[in-house]
Amino acid sequence: MNVATSGTLNFQLSEEHTEVQRAAREFAQKELLPGVIERDTHQTFPTEQIKKMGELGFMGMMVDTIYNGGGMDTISYVLAMEEISKVDASASVCMSVNNSLVCWGIEKFGTEAQKQKYLKPLATGEIIGAFCLSEPEAGSDATSQRTIAEDKGDYYLLNGIKNWITNGGTASVYLVIAQTDIEKKHKGINCLIVERGMEGFEVGKKEDKMGIRGSDTHSLMFTNVKVPKENRIGEDGFGFKFAMQTLNGGRIGIAAQALGIASGAYELAVQYSKERKAFGKLISEHQAIQFKLADMYTKIEAARLMTLKAAALKDAGEDFAIAAAAAKLYTSQIAQEVTTEAVQVHGGYGYVKEYHVERLMRDAKITQIYEGTSEVQKIVIARNILK
Ligand code: CAA
Repeated sequence: MNVATSGTLNFQLSEEHTEVQRAAREFAQKELLPGVIERDTHQTFPTEQIKKMGELGFMGMMVDTIYNGGGMDTISYVLAMEEISKVDASASVCMSVNNSLVCWGIEKFGTEAQKQKYLKPLATGEIIGAFCLSEPEAGSDATSQRTIAEDKGDYYLLNGIKNWITNGGTASVYLVIAQTDIEKKHKGINCLIVERGMEGFEVGKKEDKMGIRGSDTHSLMFTNVKVPKENRIGEDGFGFKFAMQTLNGGRIGIAAQALGIASGAYELAVQYSKERKAFGKLISEHQAIQFKLADMYTKIEAARLMTLKAAALKDAGEDFAIAAAAAKLYTSQIAQEVTTEAVQVHGGYGYVKEYHVERLMRDAKITQIYEGTSEVQKIVIARNILK
């Protein structure tokens, strides 16, 4: 969707956008679909597939080409996220965190040295990044950081625990949010780039999850980790603002993921309804099923427009925080509804793994939780309305 300057809206995708969408769809069908049920069952991270996604440019899509990125816009990113999430939401959350939280955060706010050292290999998918904000007692209440980054002159001494970290066990670079000056509350928080292998940094247990089971979610422990001052992103005390601004963009990625999960389930339901017979005719000929498909289609269309609008605003350099929060809130909600209905359309088959929709239904739930719960999105929306 391009927003034209004449005041009219152009809903036509450009040739470049269509090409990105086609490439992502082809990759997802060819490389992600075989084995996705296995990976979900055994909680296997899609290592080879993520490597290929890097080679195809999906891991640093919006990064400037001078830092080895794809130099693409957020609309392209949304289109690719949707196609990949239709098939494998575990692969797409890895992609989303790497693109919109880690790469974007370093490119937007990092130093030139940080970009050369970290952004370049992150943008090609040669290494993967993780974003470490959540803690055992700081999820939605993100200002209550217990991880401490004590200022020791030319380095920070990092101590604490992070929870539910996507890419936790596979990442090489971790953006860690920590409190330096408790008196200053959120204005005393910093974001530090921590490398895997730094002394005192340990990867904790892998979570056994309801959905996105192929993704790699861990707790992380930091015990007297010495992080050089040059690894801080932005000015002293910028860490909370860094996290909030980065998450605004991240929420577009998760909206696109939820959109993909919903549209993947919807496509399967349409296809199944044209194959399955009941009471002497195809179930697609029963109005009970037609109404379900019509509702699913309508919800997905609305969610797609909201997500693309947030992306278009971001690309235009406009304030997109409220649009991103609203897109994530709505899209994650309809992903619940659409995937549940897709299981219903499939009947008994929908409840077994082979037909994919039960996995999509389980995967959908997390989109209402991570990168800000639905309740947090409502806080962001309401504060923007009322400010
Ligand atoms: N954009 C920009 N700035 C923002 C912002 C936003 N969306 N939300 C808050 N801020 C700014 C405020 O303007 C304020 O700035 P000033 O100090 O200049 O006034 C500052 O941040 C503090 O904000 P609040 O006073 O509003 O803080 P709060 O304690 O009331 O909390 C909150 C605000 C919106 C609830 C915030 O804590 C939040 O977003 N929580 C959710 C955290 C989250 O999304 N976690 C996800 C973990 S990462 C993840 O899931 C990745 C993954 O692995 C998939």
